Amino acid sequence: MEKVCNVSDVPAGSMKGFTVKYAYILLANVDGKFYAVTAVCPHMGGYLPIGKLENNIISCPVHGSQYDVTNGKLVKDVSFILKTLTGGGSSDLTSYPVTVKDETVFIEL
Ligand code: FES
Repeated sequence: MEKVCNVSDVPAGSMKGFTVKYAYILLANVDGKFYAVTAVCPHMGGYLPIGKLENNIISCPVHGSQYDVTNGKLVKDVSFILKTLTGGGSSDLTSYPVTVKDETVFIEL
């Protein structure tokens, strides 16, 4: 298990980017529960922590594809035109198990 941050660093309804060992991680707090996924959009590398979090859905700041932060699933891909222009669509995010212990958030990489 790798330490990410303290519970108070990511308030409910927000998300933040962290570098844990070699990995870029997005940690989100959805109604007091923490979820971790890769912070890099599989489409063209957009940095997801500067996107938008609405409930459990993250929107990529670059082309707007959307992911469910609770399981990393792609819920809305980029448009057909963008797929054509950029050489393909997006895919699911890697999701990491999260453990909270003594006000500290850990993930398993
Ligand atoms: S880089 Fe994220 S949707 Fe294109």
